[in-house]
Amino acid sequence: MKIITTIAEMQKEMTALKAQGHTVGYVPTMGFLHEGHMSLMKTARPQNDILVLSIFVNPLQFGPTEDLDAYPRDFDRDHKTAEAEGVDFIFYPSAEEMYPQEASNKVTVQQRTNVLCGKSRPGHFDGVATVLVKLFNIIQPDRAYFGLKDAQQVAVVEGLIKDFNFPIELVPVNTIREDDGLAKSSRNVYLSKEERAQAPELNKGLQLAKATIESGERNPQNIVRLINKHITDHCDAEVDYIEIYSYPELKKLETLSGKIIIALAVRFSKARLIDNIILEIE
Ligand code: PAF
Repeated sequence: MKIITTIAEMQKEMTALKAQGHTVGYVPTMGFLHEGHMSLMKTARPQNDILVLSIFVNPLQFGPTEDLDAYPRDFDRDHKTAEAEGVDFIFYPSAEEMYPQEASNKVTVQQRTNVLCGKSRPGHFDGVATVLVKLFNIIQPDRAYFGLKDAQQVAVVEGLIKDFNFPIELVPVNTIREDDGLAKSSRNVYLSKEERAQAPELNKGLQLAKATIESGERNPQNIVRLINKHITDHCDAEVDYIEIYSYPELKKLETLSGKIIIALAVRFSKARLIDNIILEIE
């Protein structure tokens, strides 16, 4: 496995490998790898000749109240994890390498951002899209892997790839769950014992919604009310949002039809958890 820190070298390696006909799978990350990232690497590994992982804590996607310096970093551990998952290249640039001077361009994401978690993080997805345009041009992947735990990010990337005609297949990877259905998250460790016992009710609420839609309910407000009642009945937690949109467009729906996302965020005492399901309705 090679660790590359400069854009010039990374682009040179990738251009040469692609010229030889190799397919490239790409997992973009900000490091501090967890099981979610591992499942992206595990999915990507057998589908591509070359597997590239990038580790770059992107300053552009942090808001003024979010602490970039406090973002957890552990390159040695990440290096070992990547090696065990069969990664061929880690692209590990510095902020100076990625943003050497004040840029004259940035990407503005005009749709899909002012809902769900994006509502409370203005500018976040502009930062994500801007760094991904750079990373896609540097790595030139055939396939890029993103976790559906952050389904809004997947929707934004889908739009980015389509609008800017990147010749890249977006591969969304399902959320990894504990045996009791709780979506795995590094934040789960902040739950108290009682909260940990309640937290699977978030996914149960989503599954209840799915079953109710399958039985014929098509009114989004009724589904939101149903999930809200389920969560407030079973959890000592505050519902931040429960929202339903078309997917990946993230447009409001009067009636449930086509591909939809039901997403929620719930605040326990020390952890804000998110979860979602994506359904295809006939
Ligand atoms: O999901 C992340 O870790 C980041 O948003 C990404 C896609 C690596 C862009 O910085």
